[in-house]
Amino acid sequence: MDEIYGHLVTLTGFTDEDNTVLKKHKDQTQSWGDEIVQDFYDTLFGYSSTSEVFRKGERPDREETLRNWYFEVTSGELPKDFWNHQWFVGLVHIKRKVSNPYMFGMMSRVQQLFLGKCLQEFPLDQVEEIFGAFKRLTDVIAGLIAEGYFINYVEAMVHVGGLNVELVDRMMHIEIENMLEKHSK
Ligand code: HEM
Repeated sequence: MDEIYGHLVTLTGFTDEDNTVLKKHKDQTQSWGDEIVQDFYDTLFGYSSTSEVFRKGERPDREETLRNWYFEVTSGELPKDFWNHQWFVGLVHIKRKVSNPYMFGMMSRVQQLFLGKCLQEFPLDQVEEIFGAFKRLTDVIAGLIAEGYFINYVEAMVHVGGLNVELVDRMMHIEIENMLEKHSK
């Protein structure tokens, strides 16, 4: 997890300064929480593929989870275990069949809502700084959830099959070569 987090931080350019910016404006950005949560679940419940993921009566709990997440992200003071927890979300999503296209689609929507709000409520010269901070942070999160999903999925498969990781790696390499060859024909 740490190595993957490191790659994402370096490549997105996320820094502590982003948390400082978010902390400075949290009163304003957190006042958008209810609207963002409402839009998020209206979208998911309004689309048959994603509404199937949820159990009957689950919406209030899910709204609470997302509200807490949004408040943590915009607080500028991430809890100590925050990054490990984002990795763990990938594992929870596997269990509940929340695929990465669903997660990425909704992360994009949250980012667009946040940008729209910034443009409405902040002077234009502050928008790039505030939205940029939120975008970098939430992109690192999306990367961790997606990779947490992928790595945990593969690890579970390797364990279930009683397989040897290095052997699977070598066999995968050969299979990928075959697939690439087929594709180029
Ligand atoms: C912006 C993208 C998303 C973020 C940041 C996010 C975040 C989270 C978090 C923090 C949890 C709680 C993990 C835990 O501590 O137990 C969670 C669980 C869950 N999420 Fe997501 N999620 C996202 C997208 C989605 C989407 C698109 C769906 C549905 C299509 C979804 C459905 C669920 C469900 C069903 C749970 C499991 C709750 C449980 O069984 O305890 N999430 N997610």
